[in-house]
Amino acid sequence: MRYLVTGGAGFIGSNFVRFLFNKYGSDAQVVNLDKLTYAGIRENLAEYEGQPNYRFLQGDIADPAAVEEAYRGVDGSGVDVVVNFAAETHVDRSLMEAGTFIQTDVHGVLVLLEEARKHAPSLRRFIQISTDEVYGSIDSGSFSETDPLNPRNPYSASKAGGDRMAYAYAQTYGLPVIVTRASNNFGPWQYPEKLIPLFVTNAMDDQSLPLYGDGRNVRDWLYVEDHCAAVDFLIEHGTNSETYNIGGGNELENREITHKILELTGKPESLIKPVGDRQGHDRRYSLDTTKLEKMGFKNERDFDSALEKTVRWYKENEAWWRAIKERSAEYKAFYEKQYAGR
Ligand code: NAD
Ligand code: TYD
Repeated sequence: MRYLVTGGAGFIGSNFVRFLFNKYGSDAQVVNLDKLTYAGIRENLAEYEGQPNYRFLQGDIADPAAVEEAYRGVDGSGVDVVVNFAAETHVDRSLMEAGTFIQTDVHGVLVLLEEARKHAPSLRRFIQISTDEVYGSIDSGSFSETDPLNPRNPYSASKAGGDRMAYAYAQTYGLPVIVTRASNNFGPWQYPEKLIPLFVTNAMDDQSLPLYGDGRNVRDWLYVEDHCAAVDFLIEHGTNSETYNIGGGNELENREITHKILELTGKPESLIKPVGDRQGHDRRYSLDTTKLEKMGFKNERDFDSALEKTVRWYKENEAWWRAIKERSAEYKAFYEKQYAGR
């Protein structure tokens, strides 16, 4: 199969490309189109550079010329499947500057879809990677795919725009679109500004863990390899125009995760630093994943073993995250702004 993966230098995208090569070997051809924003790290997939079935293209999904080139595939013969991971992804950043979120997460999706129209009917699938955050917060019960969208921050609003634009292109032009809405991912190669990698790496350095608000917000945690397996499963078994929730089945309060991280890193609770709450902080995300399960898909990893494996990865790959945390002026500027006045 010939894949165009966008955002393949980021956390989930790079795990997905690795998943494809591990599972399909040389039967998978992958073009990775990535802008290399602060979150894109080309070296995440360094082991595949130079292989005849892998091509890295630096470019913006909102740039029609870059997208046209990416659809040519590894060898100019085209692609069968597009998986769009490329996005601005951090809620806290969207509270400081929402414009780039609209540009990438909405307009970028439109450019990818417009190019897809030129390649129909040879295109087999266009997977739009959306998020559970488009449903908004839920105090009890779980969201199913037919529930209305109620995004409550600029990140989730922009993702909802891309999500529905992809659906609209399926309805209007008959494109083979599938939309996936996954819950919070964790695992190796996650940029250390998101909760789990930030707290693991801060704890390793005896730095404080900034827990927002009362620490009782709930997220459903999905191990990244299970997410990759679900996307691969849907490429094979999904139905065009359908939306699928992909959940971990691991709902935990942030303070519970924090305690587990301190246990796994052998650090004291005194590192926890309650800070002011995030503006518009969604209280709880929860997904009903019956639709995917009924198709026969099952996650492989339980939460505790996946978290342990993840913490071990950060312990064994200090050079990777230290390079980001210590040398990136951009990273420092974000944190200075983020915690000013808290
Ligand atoms: P990430 O921030 O780690 O990576 C995003 C990647 O996209 C980076 O490599 C970045 O360089 C690239 N990118 C950004 N703008 C681009 C543009 N305009 N053109 C091309 N490339 C661009 O993000 P992630 O956590 O790996 O998330 C991947 C996708 O999964 C996103 O669409 C996100 O909304 C979705 N998602 C993430 C989670 C999660 O918990 N991380 C959960 C559900 C859904
Ligand atoms: P995050 O990893 O940013 O993912 P999202 O906001 O997309 O769910 O945050 C996960 C949860 O952790 C969320 O409730 C906010 C909270 N959080 C903190 O308490 N402290 C932090 O420093 C960060 C980054 C997040």
